[in-house]
Amino acid sequence: MFISPKLTRDAMPGNFLILNNVEVTFDPFILVIKGVSMEVEKGSIVALLGANGMGKSTILKAISGVIRLERGRVTKGYIEFNGRRIENMMPDAVARLGITYVHEGRHVFEELTVEEDILSGLYGRRKMDPKDALEFVYNYFPRLKERRKIRSGYLSGGEQQMLVIARALISQPDVLLLDEPSLGLFPSVINEIFDIVKKINEYEGLTVILAEQNVKKALEIADYGYVVEGGKIVLDGTPEKLMNNPDVQDYYLGIGRAGRISYQDVKSYKRRKRWIS
Ligand SMILES: Nc1ncnc2c1ncn2[C@@H]1O[C@H](COP(=O)(O)OP(=O)(O)OP(=O)(O)O)[C@@H](O)[C@H]1O
Ligand SMILES: [Mg+2]
Repeated sequence: MFISPKLTRDAMPGNFLILNNVEVTFDPFILVIKGVSMEVEKGSIVALLGANGMGKSTILKAISGVIRLERGRVTKGYIEFNGRRIENMMPDAVARLGITYVHEGRHVFEELTVEEDILSGLYGRRKMDPKDALEFVYNYFPRLKERRKIRSGYLSGGEQQMLVIARALISQPDVLLLDEPSLGLFPSVINEIFDIVKKINEYEGLTVILAEQNVKKALEIADYGYVVEGGKIVLDGTPEKLMNNPDVQDYYLGIGRAGRISYQDVKSYKRRKRWIS
C-alpha cells in the first residue's frame, strides 16, 4: 500500500493521520521536505524532534495547509486524514476538518484581554457556547482564568503560550499541531505546559503532534517520536528507544559516550554519517 520504505509500522485503523513520502517545495523550486513518512495514531502524542532549520515547522505547515500561504506545495507523496487526502488543501479547509496549528512564536492579540483573545478562537467554527468554551479551557489553564481581564500583551511568555494553546482548543480540534511551545521558557514553566498538554490528551483524547528542539521534555510526554534532519526522518521510535539511542544521547541530550557535548558542537557531516550507518 505504501510507496515509502520508511514506514515501519503497518497501517492500522487507529492511524488516522498518515504522511506518505511527502515532499514540500517552496517557490521557486526550494525543496525543503524530502520524502517524509509518518503515522499518527488517534489519541497519541507524537514528537517531531530536531535542531534549527531541519524542517519540523514545515512538516506541521504541510499538514495544516499553511505552506499554501507561503508559496509552498506538497509536490510528491500524500497526506491522509481520516481516510481523506488533505495535502495542498487551504488552511481554513484543514481547520474545518479538525486539525488546528499553533504557530511557533506565541502570537497573541496584544490589545485584547486574555478572555477576548481566547474567544477569538471560536471564529469560523462556532461549535461551542462561549461560556462553556471558557469554562472548558479555564479548567485546564487556571492561570488564564486569574489573568482573564488583563491584556494579552502583558502576559509572561509561559502564559502567552498557554493562551495560544487555549485559543486553539476552543475550536475543538481532533488534532493539535503544536510548534515549539517550550522555546525560551524556564524548565518549570515548560513542565507546567507539557503536563497540561498531556492531561488534555488523556482526558479529551486529543491527538497532538509536537515539534520540539527540547528532545528530553518532548519525549517525556510523547508516545512516539520522529527525528528530523535536513528535511528527512532519520530515526523514529518509542521514547524509550530514542532516549537509549547513543546518537540521540550524544547530539540531543548531551549525555552520551562523547561526554557533555551538544549537537550544535558537532559537525553536520559527522552527524549525517552516523545517522545513516
Ligand atoms: N517559505 C519558505 N521558503 C523557502 N524556504 C523555507 C521556507 N520556510 C522554511 N524554509 C526553509 O526550510 C528549512 C526548514 O525550516 P523549518 O522552519 O521547517 O525548520 P524547523 O525545524 O522548524 O526549525 P526551527 O527549530 O528553527 O523552528 C529551513 O532551511 C528554512 O530556511
Ligand atoms: Mg520551527
